[in-house]
Amino acid sequence: MFQITKKKILNPSVTLMEIYAPHIAEKVQAGQFIIFRVDEQGERVPLTVADSNPEQGSITLIFQIVGRSTMKLNALQEGDSILDLVGPLGLPTKLPEHAQKVCVIGGGVGCAIAYPQAKTFHKSGLHVDVIAGFRSKEIVILEEEFRENCSELILCTDDGSYGRKGFVTNALQNQIDSGIHYDTVVAIGPIPMMKSVCDLTKKYQIPTIVSLDPIMVDGTGMCGGCRVTVGGKIRYACVEGPDFDGHQVDFDELIRRNGVFRKREAECRMMALADQL
Ligand SMILES: Cc1cc2nc3c(=O)[nH]c(=O)nc-3n(C[C@H](O)[C@H](O)[C@H](O)COP(=O)(O)OP(=O)(O)OC[C@H]3O[C@@H](n4cnc5c(N)ncnc54)[C@H](O)[C@@H]3O)c2cc1C
Ligand code: FES
Repeated sequence: MFQITKKKILNPSVTLMEIYAPHIAEKVQAGQFIIFRVDEQGERVPLTVADSNPEQGSITLIFQIVGRSTMKLNALQEGDSILDLVGPLGLPTKLPEHAQKVCVIGGGVGCAIAYPQAKTFHKSGLHVDVIAGFRSKEIVILEEEFRENCSELILCTDDGSYGRKGFVTNALQNQIDSGIHYDTVVAIGPIPMMKSVCDLTKKYQIPTIVSLDPIMVDGTGMCGGCRVTVGGKIRYACVEGPDFDGHQVDFDELIRRNGVFRKREAECRMMALADQL
C-alpha cells in the first residue's frame, strides 16, 4: 500500500498528491511515469511523476479528474492509501546533445508533465524559456514553480483572462519573430496542441520532443496498447517513450486510437458519478 501524505486542489479539475514511495522517489528522472491501481477493482492508470523528494521518500503526482479512475483517486484524502504503484516506467527525457536554448511548452494539465523537464534542464544550466497555456485564468497551475525554474515564463490563456491572449503557438511564433533562436522545443499537452507546435517548429527546423499519452495497460511493452507510429515505424510508448521526435509522430493515428474506448469511458464516468451520489 502507498500512503497519500499530501493532497492539494490546484484547480477545480486538477489535484496534486504526494505519495510515500521511497524506492521510486530515489530513482525517478524527468519524463518518467508510474502506473497505479486505486484498489482491487481499479484500472491501471499511468501518471507522470511531476516531482520527487528522495529525502522524504515521496513523489508528486498532478492529475486531471477526467473519468472513473481519476475520480476514485481524487476521492481519497491525506492518510489514505492506494493499492499499487509501479515505477519509474518509461525512458527519462533526453535532449539533443547540441541543446543550449530550450523552449518548454505545456498545455493545460500537460504543464504537470512539462514542469519536471523544465526544472531538470534549468538545473543542468541550460537556458530554458517556458510557454504555459491554459483555457482561462481559473485553471492556471504551477505558475510559481515554473517561474523558479526558467529564464522567462510566458503565460497564455485562450480567452485573455490572464497573461497573453492566444494559444501557445502564437507565443512561440512571437518569440521566433523577435529573433530568439531555440535549438530545441519540448511540447507537452493535448494532442492537437502538440501537433500544431510541431507544424510550426518543422517550418523553422527546430528539433521538437513531444511526450505522448496513448492508452497504456501493462506499461512493460507486452500488451501493445500504447502502440504509436513514429517515422513510419511501430514504437511502444511505455518502454521506448513516452518522449518522441514530434516531427515523426503520426498524430492522426494517435487521436484515432485514443478514441477507441470513448463510449465505455463515458459509461464508466456515469457509473462513478452515480456512486458518488
Ligand atoms: C505516460 C502517460 C503519462 C500521463 N501523465 C498524466 C499526468 O501526469 N496527469 C494527468 O492528468 N494525466 C496523465 N496521463 C493521462 C491519464 O493516464 C488519463 O487521464 C487517465 O488514464 C484517465 O483515466 P480515467 O479512468 O480517470 O478516465 P477515462 O474516462 O478512463 O479516460 C479519459 C481519457 O484518458 C485517457 N486514458 C484512459 N485510460 C487510459 C490509460 N490506461 N492510459 C492512458 N490514457 C488513458 C483517454 O484519452 C481517455 O479518453 C498520462 C498518460 C500517459 C500515457
Ligand atoms: S502499455 Fe502495454 S505495451 Fe505499452
